[in-house]
Amino acid sequence: MKPPTAVVLALACPTSALAEGVPVGEAIYLAHCMECHMASGAGDDIAPDIRGIPSNNLRRAMGGLEGMPEFDFSDEELAAILGYLKSLDR
Ligand code: HEC
Repeated sequence: MKPPTAVVLALACPTSALAEGVPVGEAIYLAHCMECHMASGAGDDIAPDIRGIPSNNLRRAMGGLEGMPEFDFSDEELAAILGYLKSLDR
C-alpha cells in the first residue's frame, strides 16, 4: 500500500508533519510501526497488540526486542507515539 503523501512528507522532513495536519505520533506509527503491529495496533502473528501500552513498555521496546528493530526517538516523539497508541480503539 502506498502511504499517504503527508506521511511521506513527514518522513522527508519531520517538522512538516504538524504543518501537513498529520499528528506526529500517527505519522511515526504509519511510517515505522504499522508494518508489524498493523494499522489497528492490534498486532498479528508477528507482533503483539500495543494499543494503550504503558510508557515503560514503549521505552523498553525502543531499545530493540526479539523480532523488533531498535528506534531512537526523542521524548517528544515518544509522547506523541504513546498518545497515538492510546487513541486506537480496543
Ligand atoms: C519488524 C517488525 C516490528 C516493527 C517495525 C515494530 N515492532 Fe514493535 N514489536 C515487534 C515484535 C516482534 C514485538 C514482540 C517482541 C517480544 O515480545 O520479545 C514487538 C513489541 C513491541 C512492544 C512491547 C509490547 C509489550 O507488551 O511490552 C512495543 C511497545 C512495541 N513493539 C512498539 C513498537 C513501536 C512504537 C514501533 C514503531 C516505532 C514498533 N514497535 C515497530 C515487531 C515490530
